[in-house]
Amino acid sequence: MLGILYGIGVGPGDPDLLTLKAVKALSRVSHVFAAASSKNDYSLAHDIVREHIPAGTPVDQLSFPMTFNPDKLEDAWRANCEQVVEILRQGKDVAFLTLGDPMTFSTFIYLMRKVRSRIPDARISVIPGITSFQAAAACAAEPLAEGEEIISIISGAKGGERLKDVISLSDSVVLMKAYKYLPEILAGVEEAGLRDSCCFISRCGLDGEVIERDFDRLLRMERPNYLSLMLIKRRGLESRDGSPRSVDRREGQEVDSTSQASPAGKPSCRDRLRVVGISEPSGPFRFEEKAI
Ligand SMILES: C[S@@+](CC[C@H](N)C(=O)[O-])C[C@H]1O[C@@H](n2cnc3c(N)ncnc32)[C@H](O)[C@@H]1O
Repeated sequence: MLGILYGIGVGPGDPDLLTLKAVKALSRVSHVFAAASSKNDYSLAHDIVREHIPAGTPVDQLSFPMTFNPDKLEDAWRANCEQVVEILRQGKDVAFLTLGDPMTFSTFIYLMRKVRSRIPDARISVIPGITSFQAAAACAAEPLAEGEEIISIISGAKGGERLKDVISLSDSVVLMKAYKYLPEILAGVEEAGLRDSCCFISRCGLDGEVIERDFDRLLRMERPNYLSLMLIKRRGLESRDGSPRSVDRREGQEVDSTSQASPAGKPSCRDRLRVVGISEPSGPFRFEEKAI
């Protein structure tokens, strides 16, 4: 009998955001694979779950090239798939680790398709993970959607040119992969008239976490980390850095706005005070710092 291929989402970085289902699956599988860049063999996904993998369970890195070249990608994924298929054919269960969620901009999607094309009756089980943008919205205390609002999730890997297609239809846009082409992405945000309505979040839940709402500082940012995204809110941000007061649009009340930037090396949102919105039945909406 064929083994089961588990696609396991390990969340965006903070090991406390791993699901119990992921932890249970990791204790059972016979072999673990993790994606690593072909430039180095470091896998953040493996680091996040390391303590939950029993000693003796083999862990292999599957390297994938950071390229849009379809031939190079095809070759890499054919080779990666063969390694996984070999273990599944031995009847062993395999976990493939992926950052965030396996069904959202994830290398697991390529692997799943490849394995299915090699073994049409492959047994595949996907364990969802907390996505980077859910964690980022929580860290920045920026709601993604409420009421009838629409969220769009797009990639910035080629400069985020689809922002102009979606912005008029969306209340919030999540722009993933906001690193290499950050200047082009910022130009698109400015063109849409939203320079005061975007929040950049990098390395959420990890050392070196950054939450930046100041557009001029974003324009000066050099070589943002690969783990970076932008939240763009068509009706404006919940609160703003750089301004002591901002307007809560839901209540029309003035509220305090608090800086949440955490410079490299400083504690990230998982181990410091979190700014939370407090709404009391008789009082105005306000922000307060709460220990988490
Ligand atoms: C290949 S995608 C992986 C997305 C992932 N599957 C998810 O569900 O979030 C890589 C992109 O995810 C985002 N990302 C992942 N982890 C992040 C983190 N800790 N902080 C900020 N962005 C992150 C960045 O936009 C990064 O370029």
